[in-house]
Amino acid sequence: MRQPVKIKSPEGKLGVLLPGMGAVATTFIAGCMLARKGLGKPFGSLTQLGTIRLGKRTDKRTPYLRDFVPLAGLDQLVFGGWDIFPDDAYESAAHAEVLERRHIDAIKEELDAVKPMKGVFYPEYVKKLHGTYTKNDPSKSKADMVEALREDIRNFKRDNGCSRLVAVWCGSTEVYIEPSAVHQSIDAFEKGLKNNDPAISNSQMYAWACLKEGVPYANGAPHLSVDCPATWQLAKEMCMPVAGKDFKTGQTLMKTILAPGLKARMLGLSGWFSTNILGNRDGEVLDDPESFKSKEVSKLGVLQHILQPDVYPDLYGSIYHKVRIEYYPPRGDAKEGWDNLDIFGWLGYPMQIKVNFLCRDSILAAPIVLDLALLMDLAQRASFHGTQEWLSFYFKSPMHAPDLYPEHDLFIQSMKLKNTLRWMMGEELITHLGNEYYD
Ligand SMILES: NC(=O)c1ccc[n+]([C@@H]2O[C@H](COP(=O)([O-])OP(=O)(O)OC[C@H]3O[C@@H](n4cnc5c(N)ncnc54)[C@H](O)[C@@H]3O)[C@@H](O)[C@H]2O)c1
Repeated sequence: MRQPVKIKSPEGKLGVLLPGMGAVATTFIAGCMLARKGLGKPFGSLTQLGTIRLGKRTDKRTPYLRDFVPLAGLDQLVFGGWDIFPDDAYESAAHAEVLERRHIDAIKEELDAVKPMKGVFYPEYVKKLHGTYTKNDPSKSKADMVEALREDIRNFKRDNGCSRLVAVWCGSTEVYIEPSAVHQSIDAFEKGLKNNDPAISNSQMYAWACLKEGVPYANGAPHLSVDCPATWQLAKEMCMPVAGKDFKTGQTLMKTILAPGLKARMLGLSGWFSTNILGNRDGEVLDDPESFKSKEVSKLGVLQHILQPDVYPDLYGSIYHKVRIEYYPPRGDAKEGWDNLDIFGWLGYPMQIKVNFLCRDSILAAPIVLDLALLMDLAQRASFHGTQEWLSFYFKSPMHAPDLYPEHDLFIQSMKLKNTLRWMMGEELITHLGNEYYD
């Protein structure tokens, strides 16, 4: 057996910092609190329910992931974060209406105690929101904002007696920003902070503050944030893991399940039309074309990368792929998505697949936040740093090394995640070769 990677033990409290304490963040926090009281099960979470096969099938070793790698337990988690509205986690969860009152009332006291810190908010990056609970002061620069966030992080860690922290962005989706000169190096970024460079958005200030304070950072939204050379360099310098972008939940989750299946069977695809209605605050933010553009870019890459039209031009060379999101308040968080797939088979005969997914966005996203918090903390204790491609499983638009393409296929992502854990612990990687070849 290979030597396992040296991993520090997960002793003490792990603080989970959430910039943005809306629907996803409060559903995650409440779910963890309910699960540790035995009042609910963390369905959808690989770290809590998933198993991992080790060695040969005949070895019959299939432990739970949480028993195989040293993860922090739910009881060790402490929750905190920032928002641009002052609601505590109970009020915010009540406003989001994802969880029923019987759930949030059962843990009201604990939720009441999770109060957001004041957010950093320049409204030009999220045009639909008018935050009132912010640190902003026209006499201060973006560099001052980063300093103020760093102070929050240190205070949170001290006041809550945490031994480590991890951050997962659960804030609103910002407008689309292309990486520019200011994102190319640590120096350029720090100068940009001092000069209030307009290409530095709110989320980038949080990410910078976290990395500077030694806090691993995962980005649950599609905007740039930690996906640029300046943050890659800072992550390397600080020996911090970063991951992103955009939690893979409803429609894109379905896409990355179905598309690999069509490709495995060499069935062609001529068009994929996806439309959604949703009525939560996220939907309202995405009603702004500039925020939608971030989401659209994140969603559109999926099929290209999975189906490889350059390798299979006859099958996938002329796909018409369209994604729409419509803000429709009556639905709240209970989103509905429709997909129409025009596929073709033997001799080019056309067929259609219709998917009507009545999903609950935050119910699908909450376990991702939990897994990312625990696995990013594990990565940091194992001295993994830079972009964590093995966590692509959780993202719509996975971050990747600049000279590589992203991996979107859910099954390859799952294999990559589990093989990374096997490798970390010194176990053989699984190849799925059968006995018939060598018995
Ligand atoms: N729910 C899903 O399935 C899903 C999937 C993929 C990505 N996401 C992304 O996750 C994020 C959260 O989604 P949600 O449904 O909880 O949205 P939400 O609108 O309920 O919550 C976002 C919160 O972020 C706060 N916020 C905005 N800018 C901030 C800032 N600068 N500092 C601090 N707080 C700030 C808002 O006030 C709000 O409370 C969104 O970006 C969304 O696109 C969600």
